[in-house]
Amino acid sequence: MILIGPFSQIITMGGLPLCGPLKDDALVVIPNGGVLVNKDKIVALGSFNTLRKKHKARLVEITGPACLLPGLIDAHTHICHAGSRANDYALRVAGKTYLEILKQGGGILDSVRKTRAASRKQLCQTLSERATHALRSGVTTCEVKSGYGLTVDDEIKMLEVIKSVHKDHPVDLVPSCLAAHVKPPEFDTHKDYLNFVATSLLPVVVKKKLSRRVDVFVEEGAFSSALSRPYLQRAAAMGFDLIIHADQFSTGGSRLACEVKALSADHLEASTDADIRALAKAGVIATVLPGASLGLGMPFAPARKLLDHGCSVVIASDWNPGSAPMGDLWTQAAVFGAAQKLSTAETFAGMTFRAARALRLHDRGVLWPDMLADMQAFPCKDYREILYHQGQLKPNRVWKKGVLIVGEKEKL
Ligand code: NIG
Ligand code: FE
Repeated sequence: MILIGPFSQIITMGGLPLCGPLKDDALVVIPNGGVLVNKDKIVALGSFNTLRKKHKARLVEITGPACLLPGLIDAHTHICHAGSRANDYALRVAGKTYLEILKQGGGILDSVRKTRAASRKQLCQTLSERATHALRSGVTTCEVKSGYGLTVDDEIKMLEVIKSVHKDHPVDLVPSCLAAHVKPPEFDTHKDYLNFVATSLLPVVVKKKLSRRVDVFVEEGAFSSALSRPYLQRAAAMGFDLIIHADQFSTGGSRLACEVKALSADHLEASTDADIRALAKAGVIATVLPGASLGLGMPFAPARKLLDHGCSVVIASDWNPGSAPMGDLWTQAAVFGAAQKLSTAETFAGMTFRAARALRLHDRGVLWPDMLADMQAFPCKDYREILYHQGQLKPNRVWKKGVLIVGEKEKL
C-alpha cells in the first residue's frame, strides 16, 4: 500500500450527475489531500495528515504545489493510421473543403491507401508513440477507431494492432470498428459495401473479440441515414454498442442515433435545436470534438445548449490525420470551454467520468475508493490554473493503475 501526497487540492469528480449543467461549487475538492493506493486501485482519499496517522503505508511524498485529477479519458480518436495529410491541410487552409478533397479521392481515402500499405509493426510503433504523447498530457484511457483499412484483412489488421498496443502500453486502448467510414473504391455502391461489412467483417470482429463498438460516418459523401439504419440494426443485433459520426457538416445522423438507441452521437457541429432536444430525450451521449472544428476552421458544436437541454456532454480529441491533427485534448477543451461558456466542472466532467460512460467503463473517471488509480497531477495550487493556461500547463505526474508513468523517474 502507498500513500501519495500531500496534494494542494484533490479534485475527485465524485458525486456529480451524468447529465446536464454543472457548477464549479459542486466539485468535491479535498485540500491538503492524500490518496491511499493498493496495487491498481484507490483505497481511500482524504486529509493527508489523517491518512498518514491512520494507515501503515509507504509514503510517496509530493513536494511543491500539486492539483490531482482523474486521468483523462479520450473517448474518440483515430490514432491508428499511417502517414501524414499535411497536403490536405495546406489545401484546406487555402480554401478547399474537407468534403471536396474526399470527393476527389483524397482525404480519408489517402489515409486508407497509406494504412493498407503499412505493416503491423509500423502501425504498432506509430500508435504506441501517439499513445505515449497522449499519456504525457494526462490521458490514461483512449478509444481508437479502425476505418482506414476498409477490407476484411485491413480492418482486422488495424483492430489487432490496437489490441496489441493496448496489451503492451500503459494507456488502456478501447477499440471501435469504423469500417463504415467511407466507401472504398473497390465497391460500386454504398449499399453493397455496408452489406459486405455486416456479413463478412462484423462476424469476424465478434469471433476474434476485437471490438464491442460499431461506428459509422453518417454524412453526404460518406453514408446516408437510410443505408446506415439497417447496418446499425444488424450490428446491434450482433451485440455491438452503436456510435455515429453525426451532424458534422449536415444533419440527420443525430436523429438516427436517437432512433437506433446509439450509445453516443459524436461531432454535432451542425445539430439544430430540435436535434439537441431529441438527443436529450433519447439519452444519447453527446460527444463533441473541438479538435475537428479547430482543424477544419469550422464552428464548434453547441455544447452549452446540449448541457442546458440535459445531455451528457463528452469532450474528446478526434485526433486523426485529416480533420483533427492536433491531438492535444487539454488545449482543445480549454479553448472550446472558453468559446462555449462551459464551467470548469463541465469541461473536466466531459473528459473524465462522463467520458468513461461513453466507453461503458465504470471503474475510472472519478477519484474514489475502489476506482482505478489513474491520476494526473499539475504543478499548481488551484485547479482553476489548469484551463487558464489553455493547455500550456502540462501534468508533471501521471499514474496509470497506481504506477507513476510520467514523473521524475519516467517509465517511458
Ligand atoms: O471524425 N468525419 C469523419 N472521420 C474523422 C476524420 C477522419 C479523417 O479525416 O481521416 C472525423 O473527423
Ligand atoms: Fe472521428
